[in-house]
Amino acid sequence: MTETLLAQPEADDRAPAKRLFIKTYGCQMNVYDSERMADVLRPLGYATTDTAESADFVILNTCHIREKAAEKVYSELGKLREMKDKRAAAGAGSMTIAVAGCVAQAEGEEIMRRQPAVDLVVGPQAYHQLPELLTRTARARGERIGADFAPNAKFDALSAEGAAARGVDGPTAFLTVQEGCDKFCTFCVVPYTRGAEWSRPAADVLAEARGLAAKGVRELTLLGQNVNAYDGQAVSGEGVWSLAQLARALAEIPGIARIRYTTSHPNDMTEDLIAAHGDGPDRIDALMPYLHLPVQSGSDRILRLMNRKHGRQAYIDLIARIRAARPDLALSGDFIVGFPGETDRDFEDTLDLVRQVHYASAFSFMYSPRPGTPASGMGAQVPDAVARERLHRLQALLFEQQTAFNASQAGKVMNVLFEKKGRYGRQAIGRSPYLQSVHVEDADHLIGQIVPVEILDGQQNSLKGRLIGA
Ligand code: SAH
Ligand code: SF4
Ligand code: F3S
Repeated sequence: MTETLLAQPEADDRAPAKRLFIKTYGCQMNVYDSERMADVLRPLGYATTDTAESADFVILNTCHIREKAAEKVYSELGKLREMKDKRAAAGAGSMTIAVAGCVAQAEGEEIMRRQPAVDLVVGPQAYHQLPELLTRTARARGERIGADFAPNAKFDALSAEGAAARGVDGPTAFLTVQEGCDKFCTFCVVPYTRGAEWSRPAADVLAEARGLAAKGVRELTLLGQNVNAYDGQAVSGEGVWSLAQLARALAEIPGIARIRYTTSHPNDMTEDLIAAHGDGPDRIDALMPYLHLPVQSGSDRILRLMNRKHGRQAYIDLIARIRAARPDLALSGDFIVGFPGETDRDFEDTLDLVRQVHYASAFSFMYSPRPGTPASGMGAQVPDAVARERLHRLQALLFEQQTAFNASQAGKVMNVLFEKKGRYGRQAIGRSPYLQSVHVEDADHLIGQIVPVEILDGQQNSLKGRLIGA
């Protein structure tokens, strides 16, 4: 053990950097985790690269949410195996292959069986073990699986690396504050792959946020599978903080100008969080007027079968209360069509709900049966062709709403946080308060800043604007 540890190169100037390639699938929590994996591997001499071919260490950070997402992993592994063999044959050194994320958690043993080229498998709560697992890759198969279920261990270890160790990429950053889910919607694998709901202590979140702000981050997106269920230990050590309390403390960090959070569950949308969006004394200015609040279906019957624990009208009423507090708040959502037993009538209810709510953007999916979930065993699975046709109709309506929302911004002046250079000339691309992409000419000197922009035009996927006075 000591020997293998000593064999690791130091991250000093002499050691040639080893190349790390991470491919990320799935949700934003995986994006955050991929960044943190790069952080824990950096002290071992690993620098990230853009292609798998040249990498010494390849990590696939995987998603298990739908069958397609999970199957992609196996085809990608097939390609990696060829690269690995070619490299070895050319005497160009070895390639270590790791599978991380939710597929690793759900089917670790099967991955090892189906693809022997995989050197190690590491579940979403075990990334802090990566350096150790890496040194064991030459050992027995069983030791190559890290699939603990203790998020506190993961975050403790990652925090010990120091918030300062976190690499940043531009003025926006993800910050995971909550993991796991206790809701057990009958279609969903997340409660099984990510474990029970768990919130990071507020002090740890604040420390990480201060580190990010010191590196120029202006906008934080707080992440959690049920982020509005946040109940992390209060800074005082006594009791817990709600998400609104956490956001209020984060908003006081110098440099942090914008706060977003995702994903929220309707049943965890508390009064204090709604008030934080509102105009009263509890308002948090930094909280952006945009909310991702999935409903999945507009049919009470299907919502019950999904075990969503809320009905259609409760969702519509909730949105009315949120909009009463903040009339210009933009909404986004997630929808599933073709859930087992969904009739034309149920689907019409979904379309009707969408017409009532008006979404600024939304994700919609065809139901995908997932092994081990209750819905996968339900009768009356909807034929693919029917589900596909419903998806097309739903998406046409959602795109229409999104385009209308974007077009309605023309003529307004809004604050844009410039994130990166655009494709042409001195163009820069930023985000509006409503998370729309805004393209502005001659603005590349403003990257990292929040600047008022006059919106000229809005299309389906972005807005065009100009600097005031330009
Ligand atoms: N915690 C979040 C997001 C979970 S996964 C929430 O509760 O909304 C993201 C989205 O994937 C879900 O909102 C759902 O719309 C979709 N999804 C989850 N399981 C699915 C399945 N089996 N088939 C199709 N879509 C699914
Ligand atoms: Fe999945 Fe439902 Fe939990 Fe969201 S709330 S992660 S859809 S089980
Ligand atoms: Fe996918 Fe896991 Fe996220 S299943 S959506 S990567 S929580």
